[in-house]
Amino acid sequence: MKRAVYPGSFDPVTKGHLDIIERAAALVDELIVGVLNNNAKIPLFSVEERVNMLNKATGHIPNVRVEAFSGLSVDFVRRCGAGFIVRGLRAVTDFEYELQMAQTNRSIDCGIDTLFFTTALEYAYISSTIVKEVASYGGDISGFVPEAVKDQIYCRISETQREKCK
Ligand code: PNS
Repeated sequence: MKRAVYPGSFDPVTKGHLDIIERAAALVDELIVGVLNNNAKIPLFSVEERVNMLNKATGHIPNVRVEAFSGLSVDFVRRCGAGFIVRGLRAVTDFEYELQMAQTNRSIDCGIDTLFFTTALEYAYISSTIVKEVASYGGDISGFVPEAVKDQIYCRISETQREKCK
């Protein structure tokens, strides 16, 4: 069985992520989307919420499974019994970091390769950070995120803003 893992923060999932998930899932038997539970960062959404949002967004793709993980991506990939890491490249600015990460991962485990997908042009400028920024000013994010998660993002942003006003 050809299995790959797409690790990331997905805080929140964007249409760019979803495009990579759809294209990668078409090439493998099973694609596991690994949601990093990173104690060093304070995300807008908890890891459970991010898993839940990804499940909503990928419900139409039968060979996609979403799981939380902590620690090294390569360890998670091994636990999943997968041979590949999937990552998206939006622009040349992503390349340096992605190359460093892929080389580090391969030096930890030479049996795990990274497959890069170039992000679809229409989503190349989208990031989770940009989505949060636009939503925080009440801008329209419907072009940036899957419809199934849009309202949850606006709700969380307004909750956070209300908290700050207290
Ligand atoms: O969506 P992101 O934040 O760009 O994803 C980055 C991610 C989660 C893939 C990366 O930070 C990662 O793999 N973190 C787990 C720790 C790890 O394996 N580090 C070694 C790679 S340099």
